[in-house]
Amino acid sequence: MTAQIISGTEIARQIREELRQEISTLKVKHNLIPGLATVLVGEDPASQVYVGQKERTCKDLGIYSERYDLPAKTTQQELLALIEELNKSAKIHGILVQLPLPNHLDEEGILYSINPQKDVDGFHPVNLGKLMIGEPDYLPCTPHGIQQLLVRSGIKIEGAEVVVVGRSNIVGKPIANILLQKAEGANATVTVCHTRTRDIAFHTRRADILIVAAGKAKAITADMVKEGVVVIDVGVNQIGTTADGKRILCGDVDFDAVKEKSKAITPVPGGVGPMTITMLMMNTVRAAKLVAGVA
Ligand SMILES: NC(=O)c1ccc[n+]([C@@H]2O[C@H](COP(=O)([O-])OP(=O)(O)OC[C@H]3O[C@@H](n4cnc5c(N)ncnc54)[C@H](OP(=O)(O)O)[C@@H]3O)[C@@H](O)[C@H]2O)c1
Repeated sequence: MTAQIISGTEIARQIREELRQEISTLKVKHNLIPGLATVLVGEDPASQVYVGQKERTCKDLGIYSERYDLPAKTTQQELLALIEELNKSAKIHGILVQLPLPNHLDEEGILYSINPQKDVDGFHPVNLGKLMIGEPDYLPCTPHGIQQLLVRSGIKIEGAEVVVVGRSNIVGKPIANILLQKAEGANATVTVCHTRTRDIAFHTRRADILIVAAGKAKAITADMVKEGVVVIDVGVNQIGTTADGKRILCGDVDFDAVKEKSKAITPVPGGVGPMTITMLMMNTVRAAKLVAGVA
């Protein structure tokens, strides 16, 4: 079977183009400029790269951005005070605190202090609760990106057997909730597997759509899927380094072998990854529109 390769790079580019147009219209028609604040504590190199990418994407799309680089010794009180200030700022519609935070900070306490209306990451319990009851304001970025990859690739989700491997709060649980909603781009029958699942292959072999977010390189092998499956590989695993020091990455799925049985499959890199920042931008635009009462 020749698999359709679902390119997150291409779908993210399309969505960014749509956002660029929308942002330009908001400015002209409503004098509204969406604003995003990014907060980075410490000097973790990967986090610096992610925050830099978010800042550049804002600039590219016409989103106003403020970046706060705080020293690693920042106290809980200092960070809470900054978030309080950003919660009140009229220019800022979305607040993103880059994770992980240094160990001495209480991550939950910090995330819960963000005004849910500005929680463009979609991690606040209010927003996760709203997602659960089918009335979301913001969907968490990576799961929302996965849904968009499926919808925009013409994959039928309604009635499909979806199997999710992984139950984290940022990927597994929210994507399961998104796809089981009584809503467009959803209405699936969803099974969630994890490390205590008795026979994972029993479930993955039943999947019409298999979404893997386990963080285990090539954990899903060809014998674990059926012919014609659609595979979304969320995993990002470093399996080595090139001679010039670049990271060699692979997903949670044995791509080359599983591709042979798949109707469609995402690559790593170039699949889910490019969608995450794009959906953050979409949430920031949505936050600005919600505050301004623009439909
Ligand atoms: N591209 C992106 O934008 C993006 C965004 C987020 C995450 N990711 C990547 O996605 C992967 C998962 O991230 P995460 O934050 O969800 O990970 P996580 O918090 O470590 O959760 C992993 C989940 O997978 C389950 N699991 C682990 N090994 C398993 C196995 N062999 N069989 C079945 N279930 C297994 C764990 O089960 P238990 O609950 O039983 O421990 C857990 O629920 C990582 O590689 C991460 O880098 C990518």
